[in-house]
Amino acid sequence: MPISLAGKPIVITGAGSGIGRAAALACAGAGMPVVLTGRRREPLEAAAREIEAVGGRAAALAGDVTDRVHCGAAVALCVERFGSIYAVFANAGYGVECAAHEMSDADMRAIFETNFFGTLNVLRPALPVMRAAGRGHLLVCSSCLALLPLPYYGAYCATKAAQHHVSRAMGVELRGSGVWVSSVHPVGTRTEFFDTADRRSPKRAGLMRVGASDRFLQPPERVAKAVVRCLRRPRPEVWTSHAARLAFEFAAMFPGATDAALGWMVERRRRAAERGERGGA
Ligand SMILES: NC(=O)c1ccc[n+]([C@@H]2O[C@H](COP(=O)([O-])OP(=O)(O)OC[C@H]3O[C@@H](n4cnc5c(N)ncnc54)[C@H](OP(=O)(O)O)[C@@H]3O)[C@@H](O)[C@H]2O)c1
Repeated sequence: MPISLAGKPIVITGAGSGIGRAAALACAGAGMPVVLTGRRREPLEAAAREIEAVGGRAAALAGDVTDRVHCGAAVALCVERFGSIYAVFANAGYGVECAAHEMSDADMRAIFETNFFGTLNVLRPALPVMRAAGRGHLLVCSSCLALLPLPYYGAYCATKAAQHHVSRAMGVELRGSGVWVSSVHPVGTRTEFFDTADRRSPKRAGLMRVGASDRFLQPPERVAKAVVRCLRRPRPEVWTSHAARLAFEFAAMFPGATDAALGWMVERRRRAAERGERGGA
């Protein structure tokens, strides 16, 4: 029997745009009251208004996931406003394009602070409430790149692998507690992600964008639907492309051939970038 989500509140980080925003709307559509968080207040409030306009319940709280106090406040707001917290979707994150050996310690730590520790910051205060209730669901937005170390995105991939491993381990640790843990692995998705990565990248070669035509990117609503499906029927991992999953698992078995293929791809994209052929997104 699928779990009914009606009236079960969720906190979503990075809910002002992209996957987080689509997930907020989809969860609200399934009857879940939603607390939306992110640093920019305006897009959060706009999404909350959109949810309320169609009869849903939502609250927006601006803040940074690297701030434990803010994450605790988001969980507290959910309990106070909606009576409990059933789920968390730790989704806030960003990517940076930079050779691993050229990245400063400060930038390396910063991406871990947001993507990895920002995830823990919001899961940790929610978990005791869920355990006391004997039910709950923690979802972590990792990436397909948790399985494939993409050159120049080594730091980003490392944060995504770290999120993946910790959530899979937590899932087993919490077995029998009534709290599920799932890692979510989107493939390329049409969001602000690529613009943000471009903006934050010191050299801005745009390797991830060059040649990545828009038509190969999935809409964020696809990830949102998969998240709602997983909330209804919990499982350890959510993939939005089984073909990508198979390809990445297969690539892991042949690291030498994979590295050669990735090296060739990067070189081709770098040359295209130098010629100014920037892809659609
Ligand atoms: N797009 C893809 O192809 C893709 C593929 C696989 C996985 N993902 C993952 O999906 C997640 C969502 O990304 P997206 O694609 O939807 O891109 P996005 O539109 O840029 O969304 C990222 C969200 O995270 C928020 N955020 C970033 N840093 C934050 C911080 N320190 N504190 C609080 N919120 C923060 C941003 O809002 P503010 O700037 O307002 O804080 C933004 O709303 C990320 O974890 C990303 O790694 C994306």
